[in-house]
Amino acid sequence: MEIDPEQAYRRAMGAFATGVTVVTAADADGAWLGMTVNSLTSVSLAPRLLLWCLGARSARYAPFAEADRWGVTVLGADAEATARRFAKATTQDLQAGDAETLAGIKVLRTGLAQLACRTHHRVEAGDHLIIIGEVLDARTHAGAALTFFRGGYGEIAGRTD
Ligand SMILES: Cc1cc2nc3c(=O)[nH]c(=O)nc-3n(C[C@H](O)[C@H](O)[C@H](O)COP(=O)(O)O)c2cc1C
Repeated sequence: MEIDPEQAYRRAMGAFATGVTVVTAADADGAWLGMTVNSLTSVSLAPRLLLWCLGARSARYAPFAEADRWGVTVLGADAEATARRFAKATTQDLQAGDAETLAGIKVLRTGLAQLACRTHHRVEAGDHLIIIGEVLDARTHAGAALTFFRGGYGEIAGRTD
């Protein structure tokens, strides 16, 4: 049987295990939203740049595409419910107590790492928008990581030293 090329591509990329993050940005009314994202990639050290890819069909496309400043929180192994929550359109608003501030940008209170970013460049690519951010500030906390692999969540403890 012939394999559908899109399915083959999805399966191949699903074999690429990633961490899980929540990107946070404010909409035009100043309300903060979160989106579960695993397309995060480090781009450059000097200057410090990272990217993530925003789906063009997202109901929240405008606020995330237009945000000048936004946050990234790398989720820990205990945050699967957080990842599921921010992947659902109805529960993506940040509630009081969810967030703290880094360089004036809201990031989630939980997490292994938090980064505050300013949009450096945007590139339309197929059905996604590549958003490249300059890192304004970053901080890290200890703990095991939440992972995403072949469509399912897992965890990895990694090195403790
Ligand atoms: C593990 C995981 C990773 C995801 N990564 C991305 C991503 O990198 N970019 C993206 O646009 N959506 C990603 N999504 C989908 C969004 O979290 C969200 O479900 C989607 O945008 C639909 O909701 P919306 O229409 O309200 O935006 C991911 C979802 C999951 C569960």
